Amino acid sequence: MNHTTKEPTINITREQMIQLLNEDLAGEYQAIIAYTVYSQVLKGAAYTDIARELELHASEELAHAIKIAKQIDYLGGMPCLTPKPVKTSNDPVTMLRADLENERTTVGRYRERIRQAEAMGEFALSETLRAIIVQEQEHEIDLSAALDINVPLPIKPAETKAASTK
Ligand SMILES: [Fe+2]
Ligand SMILES: [Fe+2]
Repeated sequence: MNHTTKEPTINITREQMIQLLNEDLAGEYQAIIAYTVYSQVLKGAAYTDIARELELHASEELAHAIKIAKQIDYLGGMPCLTPKPVKTSNDPVTMLRADLENERTTVGRYRERIRQAEAMGEFALSETLRAIIVQEQEHEIDLSAALDINVPLPIKPAETKAASTK
């Protein structure tokens, strides 16, 4: 067996699920802010199409935030109020790369969350997350196409933690 990559904890408590969903919610808030701002400040003919896409992403991220907040409330938790920090830049490529990096993180987190929800027998939560992850993958495809690169592999939550301590 390969133990080099840390496997996510699948069996978690209700309290742990609430905490993890709140971190997911803070990520959704971050995405709303980033897409709202970036869609308006991306300038240049080359970015007209993607700027319009980003506007659409902003409203989809808001819908995700509401769905996640609903699930947190259902589980007996209190939805958080603070977004994860948003990167600022005047450079279109830096902005798009920041968005793509966040989407990769999000997809990795929701993959794990779906497994955890299933293990808890929370199938409605799992269905909600599955619907969200479909859109997050579409966001990745849109951003990758704008950057003219292939869709990168999702970032596993363990890697995110390691990266954030840098
Ligand atoms: Fe989202
Ligand atoms: Fe997204």
